[in-house]
Amino acid sequence: MAEQQLAGMRVDYRTEGFDVDMLAPTWHEQLTAWLAEAEEAGVVEANAMVLATAGEDGRPSSRTVLCKGLDERGVVFYTNYTSAKSRDLRQTRYASATFPWYLQHRQVHVRGMVEMVSAAETRAYWSSRPRGSQLGAWASAQSVVVRDRRVLDDGLAAVTQRFDEQPVPVPQHWGGWRIVPEEVEFWQGRTNRMHDRLRFVVNGHDRSWTVRRLAP
Ligand SMILES: Cc1cc2nc3c(=O)[nH]c(=O)nc-3n(C[C@H](O)[C@H](O)[C@H](O)COP(=O)(O)O)c2cc1C
Repeated sequence: MAEQQLAGMRVDYRTEGFDVDMLAPTWHEQLTAWLAEAEEAGVVEANAMVLATAGEDGRPSSRTVLCKGLDERGVVFYTNYTSAKSRDLRQTRYASATFPWYLQHRQVHVRGMVEMVSAAETRAYWSSRPRGSQLGAWASAQSVVVRDRRVLDDGLAAVTQRFDEQPVPVPQHWGGWRIVPEEVEFWQGRTNRMHDRLRFVVNGHDRSWTVRRLAP
């Protein structure tokens, strides 16, 4: 695309303001409300979030994952524990996730330490997944280089045969990560690029939360 065309691409965000007195009492109630509103507004995959991690070398990488749990403890997603992202998370124990709701001129950042979710919690979510997704988790060594598509198709055929009609158990290499937030920022686009940014920040000593407004 021509540079001129890119330079001309902009949307003026004529949305209502967002102020401290409009916030829910907690970050997770506010995020739950905005998630529901995104879904209602017709955002595709409203629970998709861009997850950023960094390894020991400090180089960041990002990719999309689906938020599958949200409560006062944090934000949960499920993945392969041997993937590139899981290797990063084991090394640095820190992640950032962004919900990009462009349709509503909104985004939310969640940043904090990560922990593995309990085996029981992983099992509960696993059992809600379609069988095809369960088999896929067995068949794919996520983030590993493969020769061609056939390797994947053959892998899926092999696990399909292996489990036959049996229930598919949770693989050892698969489960959830929870981001335990230290800060959660709610961003609402406004006109003239004077956006509203309200950030919940945790106080380290007593785990209470403070809300701060940031300049856009
Ligand atoms: C909309 C969308 C949702 C996704 N959800 C997940 C997910 O929940 N878990 C997951 O492991 N990968 C998910 N992926 C694939 C990841 O973006 C990524 O390709 C994969 O996890 C490998 O990442 P890694 O090699 O950096 O570890 C999703 C991709 C898209 C586009």
